[in-house]
Amino acid sequence: MTNTPQPWSQRFETALHPAIARFNASISFDIALIEYDITGSQAHAKMLGQVGIISESEAEAIVTGLEQIRQAYRSGEFIPGVEAEDVHFAVEKRLTELIGDTGKKLHTARSRNDQVATDVRLYLREQINLIKSDLRNWQAAIVTQAEQNIDTLIPGYTHLQRAQPVSLAHHLLAYFEMAQRDYQRLGEIYNRVNVCPLGSGALAGTPHPINRALSAEYLNFGAVGNNSLDGVSDRDFAVEFLNAASLIMVHLSRFSEEIILWSSQEFSFIGLSDRISTGSSIMPQKKNPDVPELVRGKTGRVFGHLQGMLTLLKGLPLAYNKDMQEDKEAIFDTVTTVRVCLEAMTILLTEGITFKKDRLAQAVTEDFSNATDVADYLATKGVPFREAYNLVGKLVKTCTSEGILLKDLSLAQWQEFHPKFESDIVEAIAPTQVVNVRNSYGGTGFEQVKLQVATAKTVIS
Ligand code: ARG
Repeated sequence: MTNTPQPWSQRFETALHPAIARFNASISFDIALIEYDITGSQAHAKMLGQVGIISESEAEAIVTGLEQIRQAYRSGEFIPGVEAEDVHFAVEKRLTELIGDTGKKLHTARSRNDQVATDVRLYLREQINLIKSDLRNWQAAIVTQAEQNIDTLIPGYTHLQRAQPVSLAHHLLAYFEMAQRDYQRLGEIYNRVNVCPLGSGALAGTPHPINRALSAEYLNFGAVGNNSLDGVSDRDFAVEFLNAASLIMVHLSRFSEEIILWSSQEFSFIGLSDRISTGSSIMPQKKNPDVPELVRGKTGRVFGHLQGMLTLLKGLPLAYNKDMQEDKEAIFDTVTTVRVCLEAMTILLTEGITFKKDRLAQAVTEDFSNATDVADYLATKGVPFREAYNLVGKLVKTCTSEGILLKDLSLAQWQEFHPKFESDIVEAIAPTQVVNVRNSYGGTGFEQVKLQVATAKTVIS
């Protein structure tokens, strides 16, 4: 539909090679920015009208024309193709087709360089808020599971070796904390995204008497960028966003790995429901944890985008360079990936997982994860901890060679090792008790975990 030549075509003798036109064009992906581009242009036009660079009625015609383009885009009627080069030209050309020569005034005191920087910031500002609300849903799913599993015990590991049993709620709430930091991090980054580059011009500002504060205000930006060169060439906010997104993926991926392990026959701590698992094309018995595997896998591409963006920026001289067109797909794909992963994991935790409580109860009794508690028992009775620790080491060695567990020792056997052992040692090393007594702040003791659940609920309420 829009086959008019590029705005810059007067400077050139011949048309672009069609392959180069395709190579150069970003419309196939930056079309995602169209509504932000329109909103940004409307603010710019209003400002131009307000300060008298164009007339009020011209500004109004531009704002209305742009609104028509928004509606035409939404209804599927306006679909710019490669001939438009990018979303900014597409909208400007269409505007001129719609309202005539007044449309040509829109680009006064502006460049695509400050325009695209503005668009990306507007886009990211909105996406950050959407991801923050996805994170809240994820946290709510964690809290709900945690609340139902305060008394459920699960082996706690270090080095993937059984270490000490913990409340399952405690384990789950560790992920709540990670999500909370992710949430806060996005909020902090938001403040740096929320700075308006519009009015930086191509790189050096403009001779027109613009009011940058006014356009920033129309767009609800928190501040106006101080330096026009920095305004068009800064993508730090994008790097920060990709970094925050990478950490979200790290957290989801670690949880995914645990779910994959727990659902294996070797662990058998959980079952995955049919609604979130898939089968094999050849092995009829298989039920695969595809969701957490995909989340774990997709983590790689988000890391890749972060690395790609850093590499893209390194060595770029000021100010705008076309390299920067490459920022968009990285940002867009990261937003999409993080959002679908958060959604999938929230569904998985809400309705896809069953904790096998019998198996978990058995798991916490079948090892030496209460050994520290034997040492603590003696330490409480005045035996120096290191001495007690060494003695329990011997006890564990004896039990191992006899093929028994600590709970199988008779009182006489206990006392052979140390006279301070009394009959209450049996109670002291029972898994529930072992968990119950760890009531230091932030520990796995049931009282502490209840407190953590309550705190978590207020955090997200
Ligand atoms: N499509 C371009 C981008 O995404 C817009 C800015 C173009 N600026 C320029 N001076 N060629 O970066």
